[in-house]
Amino acid sequence: MKTARTPRAPAGKYAKSRQAPVTLRWYHPPMNRYHRYYCGSAKWAKRLDESVVPWVLRDYDLGPDVLEIGPGPGLVTDILRQRLPALTAIEIDGRLAASLAARMQGTNVTVVHGDGAAMPFEDGRFSSALSMAMLHHVPSAELQDRLLAETFRVLKPGASFVGMDSTVSLRFRLYHLFDTMVLADPNTFAARLERAGFADVAVREGKGAFRWKATKPA
Ligand SMILES: C[S@@+](CC[C@H](N)C(=O)[O-])C[C@H]1O[C@@H](n2cnc3c(N)ncnc32)[C@H](O)[C@@H]1O
Repeated sequence: MKTARTPRAPAGKYAKSRQAPVTLRWYHPPMNRYHRYYCGSAKWAKRLDESVVPWVLRDYDLGPDVLEIGPGPGLVTDILRQRLPALTAIEIDGRLAASLAARMQGTNVTVVHGDGAAMPFEDGRFSSALSMAMLHHVPSAELQDRLLAETFRVLKPGASFVGMDSTVSLRFRLYHLFDTMVLADPNTFAARLERAGFADVAVREGKGAFRWKATKPA
């Protein structure tokens, strides 16, 4: 008989990189095994903590009520919740959302099972929003644009949306064999953010990824 395993993050600072992923055996829409492993691994946790999160978040003040879109197993959530008063994470995968909600019980994180392209939040609620390495999992440019517009809607005037996603490479394509992978073009992404209503848009390319910051006009 199979028994349910308690979801967990990598133990220790990042634990060993071969540590079992948090809950990714439940992950869907389909991700291949390597990708499932990597997104919950101590290796990704270390990269997020040491390079990706500082590169994206700089020293921005995210304010008191922050939205994370697409937390997956919650490795970014783990970093952010130590720095923020309150964090709401919206995850489309029901099982990942449930396991993250269980893991975050009693913390300053509220996990919502829902779609970033149709969010169950009131207009103008959040002091900032972020999405890390998730946009390419939204399966069409149209849905991605809807997610940008929804993010705009739920932000307070003057609040910012920050994030990052990957750029194309052979390695990234291999990681995503049999996965959803609709990569945004960094060269046109600023215009897409502006079409959603954002101003003061900055998009910067780095090694294998791009980051952005965009603000809802006050
Ligand atoms: C590659 S994981 C990234 C997880 C985490 N942000 C990180 O950087 O480690 C992408 C996550 O976005 C979620 N996702 C995809 N489309 C979504 C949507 N429309 N709304 C909310 N979450 C979504 C997926 O289910 C998955 O958990």
